[in-house]
Amino acid sequence: MSALIELVSVRHRYPDGRTGLDDCSLRLRGGLRHALLGVNGAGKTTLMQHLNGLLRPDAGEVRWQGQPVRYDRAGLRALREQVGMVFQNPDRQLFSAHVEEDVSFGPLNLGLPDTEVRARVAEALSAVGLSALARSPVHHLSFGQKKRVCLAGVLAMQPQLLVLDEPMAGLDAPMQRDLQRMLDEQVARGVTVLLSTHDVDFAAAWADEVHVMAAGRCVRSDSVDRLMHEPAAWAAASPSMPEVLALHRELTRLGVLPAGSSPRAVPQLLNQLRALQRAPHHERASHDIP
Ligand SMILES: Nc1ncnc2c1ncn2[C@@H]1O[C@H](COP(=O)(O)OP(=O)(O)O)[C@@H](O)[C@H]1O
Ligand SMILES: [Mg+2]
Repeated sequence: MSALIELVSVRHRYPDGRTGLDDCSLRLRGGLRHALLGVNGAGKTTLMQHLNGLLRPDAGEVRWQGQPVRYDRAGLRALREQVGMVFQNPDRQLFSAHVEEDVSFGPLNLGLPDTEVRARVAEALSAVGLSALARSPVHHLSFGQKKRVCLAGVLAMQPQLLVLDEPMAGLDAPMQRDLQRMLDEQVARGVTVLLSTHDVDFAAAWADEVHVMAAGRCVRSDSVDRLMHEPAAWAAASPSMPEVLALHRELTRLGVLPAGSSPRAVPQLLNQLRALQRAPHHERASHDIP
């Protein structure tokens, strides 16, 4: 299947000589949830900034739907209409005094008629649950609310690809769940989502595909379904594998659960255990494993 966007052997060196990306290749298939994992300094932010033309490769290329990105004004504009980026720090992204004004900026810039701009802004604010704060000053908002304004600003552009740099960082658990629901709504509408995270538990539970960065390179891309069979593969991404996998492996070793693929999250593992308890004893024995 062809990629929505891809990096082909991209190298990026910062002006001070540090390497951001080193022969980095990555393909994102459309319509899926993608998680970008990797330790600090692995190149996640640098990679994301190549996806909407904020940074330009020193070597290699970025392709949108198979076509090399053009870095002239029209080419960048076309790319940025399709690829919406939410920065890690909302204060870097927000520059208007009021919420509504900030969210309108992108659609106004597209040259859309006023009625269409208003409709898109209202829809985007509603999608992030901020309709009531449309007229609030941005500097009165909490960190989490500012992040939502950033997301609304990007949604108002109706991009095909949403790129979010560590969107869960700094959010409490209920806000993380809200954000996850908002992203899932976008995926249900056909939008492709890529987010970076350190949280392997979240990546395992949420993503369809995981891409692991190390030293400026994407060292592994796999479906989460496959990674749930392969605990060792997570080692490149994180010092620890997802907790659910560690638990599943131990329960398998003890013969409590049959060998096989782990569920993606602890609540599903608990359900498996509860189902065992209800099952007649002879169905529980580990020698029943197919
Ligand atoms: N503005 C910059 N100037 C110089 N080096 C940078 C800059 N931004 C990132 N780097 C370097 O590029 C590499 C990748 O960084 P980054 O993309 O921020 O990684 P991550 O987002 O995975 O933490 C690191 O070695 C980092 O020090
Ligand atoms: Mg980063």
